[in-house]
Amino acid sequence: MKVLVTGGSGFIGSHVVDKLRDKGVEVRIFDMVFPAFRSDIEYYQGSLLDFETVRMSMNGIDAVLHLGAVADVNFVFAEPHYSESINVRGTINVLEAARRAKVKRIVYGSTTWVYSEAEGTHVNENTPLHAPSHLYTATKMAGEFYCKTYSKLYDLEVTILRYGIPYGPRARDAAVIPIFVRKALSGEALTIAGDGSQFRKFVYVEDLAEGNALGLKSIAKNKTYNLDGQEKVTIKQIAETIKKIIGNVKIEYVPARPGDFSGKEVSSIMAKEELNWEPKVPFEEGVRRYIDWYKQREEYRKRAWDNLDDTLKEGALR
Ligand SMILES: NC(=O)c1ccc[n+]([C@@H]2O[C@H](COP(=O)([O-])OP(=O)(O)OC[C@H]3O[C@@H](n4cnc5c(N)ncnc54)[C@H](O)[C@@H]3O)[C@@H](O)[C@H]2O)c1
Repeated sequence: MKVLVTGGSGFIGSHVVDKLRDKGVEVRIFDMVFPAFRSDIEYYQGSLLDFETVRMSMNGIDAVLHLGAVADVNFVFAEPHYSESINVRGTINVLEAARRAKVKRIVYGSTTWVYSEAEGTHVNENTPLHAPSHLYTATKMAGEFYCKTYSKLYDLEVTILRYGIPYGPRARDAAVIPIFVRKALSGEALTIAGDGSQFRKFVYVEDLAEGNALGLKSIAKNKTYNLDGQEKVTIKQIAETIKKIIGNVKIEYVPARPGDFSGKEVSSIMAKEELNWEPKVPFEEGVRRYIDWYKQREEYRKRAWDNLDDTLKEGALR
């Protein structure tokens, strides 16, 4: 089986690539950015906006895991028009190219943010969705709808996976765990707004990657699954976990921000029952792995700086 992973150079996509290779799947990455994490994977460079390139990248492909997107909600807020083009037009380009190339299955990486305006505190795949407040969510929902209509009109098999909040090695620096870890390792205090009892469920990125691979199973044809973490983790617990691992970390409390969203309970029971998927890595272990990776990356950057010719260091861009 040969699988194309769009966004395979990114945070989640690169772990999906690793997982598929571990399972003996042949992989081709489609991304604008060169894959920095490993060099033994076939790589097709191109933009999701370039239909011809997307189409050509699907030659000989059985299934596509479509994760390429603008995934940073703050970037979407700053650049709504550009982000919409990648997330929505990019997705229809993938679907149309897959249809023409007679690809069997598309697995679409969506988000549990689609439940942001849903009624009630407990949600599952059957919960009715309402118009979202964030444009990022609107683009991801549009992508889901395009997948469903392509499936109905053209018999393309689709599987929609709604990811919870991922964390782990290779995560973007701007997320809460990376920010806390950076501060803790540089001796800065970790600040918590309010009493820190607001919770989130985080899903360890390698567990999420496993869920993506399982999304290729035949039972997942034309289905939607939530892939969320199991443990509820409060902001205070995040800070305490980092303190436990790193030691000697100050935690400071500041007044609560008004209207802090406290999260919804997203059920992943369907993924457990049908795909036999369950998150396996406990939060503390996942944070430990992230910190190990972060330290290695910083060590690598330091060595690169130390090796730089002295004449270039003065005024150099770091
Ligand atoms: N990170 C999260 O919190 C989160 C949560 C739920 C769902 N998701 C979804 O998971 C998927 C992957 O997210 P991520 O966190 O790994 O993001 P990421 O930014 O690390 O990866 C996205 C990848 O898409 C590529 N890409 C962007 N524009 C492209 C274009 N025009 N053509 C080709 N490639 C392009 C980027 O180069 C990058 O490698 C996205 O679809 C995102 O919406 C992410």
